[in-house]
Amino acid sequence: MKPVLLAYYDNAPFGVSLLEDKFEVINLWEVTSPAPLIEANRDRVTTILCSMMHDMNADVIKSFPNLKMIATYSVGYDHIDIKAAQECGVKVSNTPDVLNAETADTGMALLLATAKRIVENDKFLRAGKWLEGYLPCGTSLADKTIGIVGLGGIGKKVAKRCEAFEMNVVYHGRSKQDVAYTYYDDLKAMALECDFLMLTCPGGATTQNLINAEILQALGENGMLINIARGSVVDEPALIKALNEGIIKGAGLDVFADEPNVPEALMAMDNVVLLPHIGSATTETRSKMGQLVIDNILAHFDGKELLTEVKI
Ligand code: DGY
Repeated sequence: MKPVLLAYYDNAPFGVSLLEDKFEVINLWEVTSPAPLIEANRDRVTTILCSMMHDMNADVIKSFPNLKMIATYSVGYDHIDIKAAQECGVKVSNTPDVLNAETADTGMALLLATAKRIVENDKFLRAGKWLEGYLPCGTSLADKTIGIVGLGGIGKKVAKRCEAFEMNVVYHGRSKQDVAYTYYDDLKAMALECDFLMLTCPGGATTQNLINAEILQALGENGMLINIARGSVVDEPALIKALNEGIIKGAGLDVFADEPNVPEALMAMDNVVLLPHIGSATTETRSKMGQLVIDNILAHFDGKELLTEVKI
């Protein structure tokens, strides 16, 4: 009897069919009520394929007595209790690096769209309002300062792109790195100097609500916030207040505190650009991520080292 692989997520475009030689694959994403299927197979599940939408907390992990591996179709792993996984002898893999450029491009798209009021102007034109005049002008990127919060793989790609846009790049993170950009160990001090903040740090307990009312106040009335990290990094009610009261000028958001639920207050604002967490969502990049998920699962099945194991 083959071990069971529970696929919470469609690993498109590389279907989990590639794993069917070795596993009995149960595609939970195909059924409307997955609970009975999970119960019926709980003891035989050795592998879980999930994405950032699936909460793999300690209780979930412990409820599968023979679980050996969780492969997530995302670079972020804040939805997985890594400590609990390690205690249970469960290996975890993610999809780093292959999505860095893509996610940075999404950040740049949000930066440009927010600064240059692209979505607002599109709506304006479609509503036939051009005949009446123009919206107020946008904001330049060139010669402005952008503060990158979390200069990891994605942050570095953002930095490179911002240099091409003739921006002054500075950064905040856990430690100073060997890069040409100015480092701030104090986030508030950096925000005071910035026209834009771009969040590219991991989610989770250490960055929870890092961007709070005080940081938004420091960013200031002409400042804009771009978030391609995790919704949890921003105190969302504080952000809504800051946008409503003109404490900051605008925001471009790919991620939210309670996805896929987006606060009505944000939906109603013209000075924000909202995306449904599509940071890495192109056919090319999703293919690379899907291949990496499959390669990790097969490596584990063959008793080899994982290609991209999450270790803390
Ligand atoms: C991930 O893979 O964790 C990112 O959210 C991509 O957008």
